Amino acid sequence: MMKLDYWLTADSVPWQQYQPEISEIHNKLHRQEDAYTGWMDWPLRIEQSLVQDILTAAEEIRNKCTALVVIGIGGSYLGAKACIELLQSPFYNEYYAGKQKRPRIYFAGHHLSSIFYEELLDRLDSEEVCVCVISKSGTTLEPSIVFDLMRSYMRERYGVKEAAKRIYAITDAQKGTLRSEADAQGYKTFVVPDDIGGRYSVLTPVGLLPIAVAGIDIVSMLEGAAQAAAAYDNADITQNICYQYGVLRHHLQEQGRVIEIFEVYEGRLRYFTEWLKQLFGESECKDGKGVIPMSLQMSTDLHSMGQFLQDGRQIFFETVLTVEHIRKDVSLEHCSMAGKAASMHMLNQIVEESARKAHLENGTPNIRLTVSELSARAFGHMVYFFEKACAVSCYLTGVQPFDQPGVEAYKRNIKAAIKED
Ligand code: PA5
Repeated sequence: MMKLDYWLTADSVPWQQYQPEISEIHNKLHRQEDAYTGWMDWPLRIEQSLVQDILTAAEEIRNKCTALVVIGIGGSYLGAKACIELLQSPFYNEYYAGKQKRPRIYFAGHHLSSIFYEELLDRLDSEEVCVCVISKSGTTLEPSIVFDLMRSYMRERYGVKEAAKRIYAITDAQKGTLRSEADAQGYKTFVVPDDIGGRYSVLTPVGLLPIAVAGIDIVSMLEGAAQAAAAYDNADITQNICYQYGVLRHHLQEQGRVIEIFEVYEGRLRYFTEWLKQLFGESECKDGKGVIPMSLQMSTDLHSMGQFLQDGRQIFFETVLTVEHIRKDVSLEHCSMAGKAASMHMLNQIVEESARKAHLENGTPNIRLTVSELSARAFGHMVYFFEKACAVSCYLTGVQPFDQPGVEAYKRNIKAAIKED
C-alpha cells in the first residue's frame, strides 16, 4: 500500500550499521516499554463495541444537525481534519454535505481569532447545530474558551436540556474540567485512552467520531492501520520501509540536513502534512535536536518557494508524498500546452519528476513515499506508518518521542498573564 524511493546525492545508507540499534528500538517499541505507546497495538485491540458506539453516535449527529462544530487543538483536531480533507470533496461544506445528508463540519478551538468566531456564530444561526468538544487534558486554553462560547450559544438557542443532548465530549476517563462538566451535564462522552498521547490519537474516538460523521468508513480505516501494524512488524531493516524511512531522515540529519520539507502534489494531502508537522515537530524537536518539519503544496509553491528549493542554503531534504492511482483524472487531450501528458495526473507526475531532477542536480536529497490510492484504508495505513517511523526516528536521535516539555513554558506565561488579582 506504500512504497519508498529515495535519491541521495552523497553516500549510500549503511543499513547494516543501523541494524543493531534498529533491533533494539524494535524490541523496545514492541514491548511498549515507554509510556504512551498504546497506539502500537490499538488498531488490533480496539473493541468492536466501541466502534459500534461511535458509529451510532455519528448517525445520531447526522440526524440531529446540519452543522457540527468540532472543537479541539493539536492532536485533538489535526488528524480528523487531515482525514476529511483527504477523503471528502474540497467542496464538502459548500455543497456535498447537504446533498449527502451529512452535516457541514466546522473546526474550531484551534486558534483565538475573534473575527472567525463572530462569523461562525452568525453562520450557525441558519443551521441545526451539534458540538463535539475534544480535549484529552480537558483544560487546554483555546478549546476551553471556545467551548464556553459555544455552550452559551447552544443554551441560548436550544435551552439547557436540549443543548446537553447536542453536545458530545471526548476526553479523559476521569481527569479534567471537561470530564466533570460532561458528567454533570449528561453529555454523551467518549474516552481518550490513557496510554495514547494527543498526536498519536487520530485512530481513537478523538479522530473516529468526526471522521465517521463525515461519512468516511472508519472500519476500513482501522483495518488499514492493522494491516500496517503487520506490514511494519519486521525488525529486519532491509524488509521494513517504515524503519528505512526513519533511518533515512536520521541519517540525513547527521549530515546537517536539519529541515525536512514535506511536499504534496495532490492537494487533498495538504492537511495530512499539517498532521505530520505536529507529529514530527512535537515528538522529535527537543533537547536542541531533531529535524524541523515544513510543508509545501505543489505545484503551487514551486512558484513561491521554488527559488529556495533550487538555490537556497543546503540544510534540508525533500520528502514527497504522492498517490499512485487517482479516482478522478482530467483529460488533457485537447490541451496543446500539455504536450504528451494525456491527463492532469500524468502532468502532475511529470512536474514532480522534473523538480526532483533539478533539485538533485543541486545536491538536495529526495525521499518519495507513494501511497497506492486515497481511501479510508490507505489513510489508516499511512497514519500507522508515520507514527511508527516517527518513534523510530526519535529514538535514533536520542529523544523521548512521546512528551512535549517545550510547550509548557509559554503556557505558564499565559496563565500568569491572565491570572486575576
Ligand atoms: O500531542 C499533544 O499531546 C498535543 O498537541 C495535544 O494534542 C494538544 O495540546 C491538545 O491537548 P488536549 O487534547 O489536552 O486539549
